[in-house]
Amino acid sequence: MVTKMRTILLVLTTLGYAVIIWDGVSAEGESLRLIPSEEGPFTRLVNGNRLCSGRVELFRKYQWVTFCDFGWDLREADVVCQDVGCGLGKNVVYGAAFGRGTGNIRVVQCGGQEASLGLCPNIPNSDPSCTHGRDVGVECTGPPAVPTLSLLSPHYMFSVGETVHFSCYVLSEHHISDFNLYKKGVTSPLVTQRLATAKASVELTLSNLDTAQQGGYSCQYRFRGASTSSFISSPLSNYIYITVVDLFTPENWYNTSMETPAGSVLRGHSFNITCSTQQPYPGGSFQLRLVRSNGTVSQWLPALTSFATFTFPDAQNSNEGYYYCRYKVQQSGRIFMSRESQPLPISVIDPDPLVSRVVISWIVSAVTFLVALVSLVVIMHWKREKKPLELERKTRTCVDNTYVAVALK
Ligand SMILES: *[C@@H]1O[C@H](CO)[C@@H](O)[C@H](O)[C@H]1NC(C)=O
Ligand SMILES: *[C@@H]1O[C@H](CO)[C@@H](O)[C@H](O)[C@H]1NC(C)=O
Ligand SMILES: *[C@@H]1O[C@H](CO)[C@@H](O)[C@H](O)[C@H]1NC(C)=O
Repeated sequence: MVTKMRTILLVLTTLGYAVIIWDGVSAEGESLRLIPSEEGPFTRLVNGNRLCSGRVELFRKYQWVTFCDFGWDLREADVVCQDVGCGLGKNVVYGAAFGRGTGNIRVVQCGGQEASLGLCPNIPNSDPSCTHGRDVGVECTGPPAVPTLSLLSPHYMFSVGETVHFSCYVLSEHHISDFNLYKKGVTSPLVTQRLATAKASVELTLSNLDTAQQGGYSCQYRFRGASTSSFISSPLSNYIYITVVDLFTPENWYNTSMETPAGSVLRGHSFNITCSTQQPYPGGSFQLRLVRSNGTVSQWLPALTSFATFTFPDAQNSNEGYYYCRYKVQQSGRIFMSRESQPLPISVIDPDPLVSRVVISWIVSAVTFLVALVSLVVIMHWKREKKPLELERKTRTCVDNTYVAVALK
């Protein structure tokens, strides 16, 4: 029993959608919007003479109903037009001017803020003349036109602190109340321009730029109908992307092939100087400037990554001096230049001819040590030799004396 019921409902729903789709492609030019719900409510405009006009019909509880024109004004038209995505109400068309419908006929009264005709309160149909001969129709302003955002500046790259001028343009029948500039990914508008008089375009200015404002921008306008007090927003315009350049002072260092005292390179050996930036931009390059006692020379390398290495294969006197790095970004005719890095002093020294200073000091120490050792050994030896000699002589003298004494007797 339950299964049977569900099957019937599904078939009915499918039929309902089939009717809608067929109506949607008909040459009668009606507008409609599908709400993904089995039983509605959803509204359509039938048999109009152009898009966004026609007899008002509401699909509810598996059937289409029409509305008596009794008491209709722009408030009802606004609700219908917004519900079908056709902007606001322009006209109410009385007396079945868009043809007679079939089925039930209802009498409603809207406040103007309802999201759908199905939410407007019903009034009991007490008027006997409310038949299909009084089926109401509406003409809407049409969906709000998409605005166009353009950049008034001739370039897309700005430095920190600069001002960007955008222009938002639209041809719309609506009474536009304001234009807004949105940054991609930010829900609240960055700039709002209210309109006192009707205008097709306004200038939206973003001043005192910082790097967080780099990104995509689009604009939107808002309008209000004769009867509605709430704003209706247009679709977003195209996006325009801007770059905000903040050039950090680059860093620099050098590497050389042999170990040398800090700040020096060996004559005839190679050395490299690297310039590096924290934040690379497309179109960036590095300048390496050498300040010598007799003048200045500079060279450039493209910055394919965040650094560039200048190579010097054969260090000579002409490489001596102070090296400075600078980062430059060039795009769409604009040039942005960083400050110069700290100076990097480089002096070219001669390699020691045969043996290094270290080896010489080793040899000197070794020789000193040897001389000291030999002297010590010689002194020791001499002292040991001398003492027994003296004793021997004394003994001999003593013996001689004895001998002499004996001889005198
Ligand atoms: C180059 O020198 C820097 C700083 O003096 C050092 O950090 C880096 O490791 C060196 N690079 C090479 C390849 O020797
Ligand atoms: C200098 O740079 C070149 C090329 O990048 C590299 O081959 C060489 O080893 C570098 N020399 C030193 C001393 O870092
Ligand atoms: C400066 O001196 C270096 C060598 O010390 C020499 O190679 C260079 O040509 C000199 N430059 C000028 C402008 O005189």
